[in-house]
Amino acid sequence: LRGLVEVSNVCARDCHYCGIRVSRTDVSRYRMSANEILECAATVHELGYGTIVLQAGEDHGIRRDWLAGLIRRIKLDHDLAITLSLGERDDADLLEWREAGADRYLLRFETSDRALFEKIHPARGERCIDRIEMLGRLREMGYEVGSGVMVGIPGQTYETLARDIELFRELDLDMIGIGPFVPHPDTPLGQEAEAKRRTDAIDINQVPADELLTYKVVALTRLICPDANLPSTTALSTINKANGRELGLMRGANIVMPNLTPAAYRCRYQIYPGKECFDESGSQVHVGVKRRIEAIGRVIGTGRGDSPNKRKRTVS
Ligand code: 5AD
Repeated sequence: LRGLVEVSNVCARDCHYCGIRVSRTDVSRYRMSANEILECAATVHELGYGTIVLQAGEDHGIRRDWLAGLIRRIKLDHDLAITLSLGERDDADLLEWREAGADRYLLRFETSDRALFEKIHPARGERCIDRIEMLGRLREMGYEVGSGVMVGIPGQTYETLARDIELFRELDLDMIGIGPFVPHPDTPLGQEAEAKRRTDAIDINQVPADELLTYKVVALTRLICPDANLPSTTALSTINKANGRELGLMRGANIVMPNLTPAAYRCRYQIYPGKECFDESGSQVHVGVKRRIEAIGRVIGTGRGDSPNKRKRTVS
């Protein structure tokens, strides 16, 4: 289990699918204070987790030094692995955070189809970071490296999805997140998906954004990358609230990331609609997740939960 804390919904980017994209002016923005984040870290530790995941939009208000200080403080207080998921950042930031003690970094490449990637990810100003290259640099800096894709992006074909899975192997990823594309009605891609759904035209190459296909991609990825950590994603449990999370675990995933963001903020981090938004405390969220995992006969692991893939690489 990893304790997920969504530390900021401020974002500089305008990704066509995402509910917290910069052009959504009606989203109420927040950035958690260092003390609020430290309180969450204490909760993550008390619940017995070995990892805290700090996730945010691409928020350049999260300053290099500020976060480095916070990482050092969490490491002093608790024996926790720290995973960062903060978007495309400069090498200087990544290096400083690594030196401060960050262990892992997550950055999905979303699709291996370059043209499709560029269509749905407008560049920020002049700057254009190649995510595949950034994943390579993260690896060189000594991070455990995670990536992943969405399944069923409008314009995604079976062929590119197969190529995505090949790329997981080529990049020798330690963590791979795979979730269905969930159309957000207030985004360009959500609207495109809805318009396509209304016409009867069937495109046989278009990958559906459904549960079954997501499970297939998870299962194939498990076969191709046997030592990677694969989360059963929140997006999966969103499109099948009854048992998506469990089915993900039964089809190859081995990680769950309970959302321990304070409830008031959690509701403002709607990258897609339908995210559970009850006024539950971290420990209530934990109890629910634990019950579900135990109900399918699984035993929850302890410790940091480093990726066996990374361990194998360092040993050999
Ligand atoms: N549907 C599904 N997944 C989404 N993400 C962002 N927006 C959506 C959406 N509408 C995923 C992206 C991103 C991760 C944090 O959430 O893959 O990398």
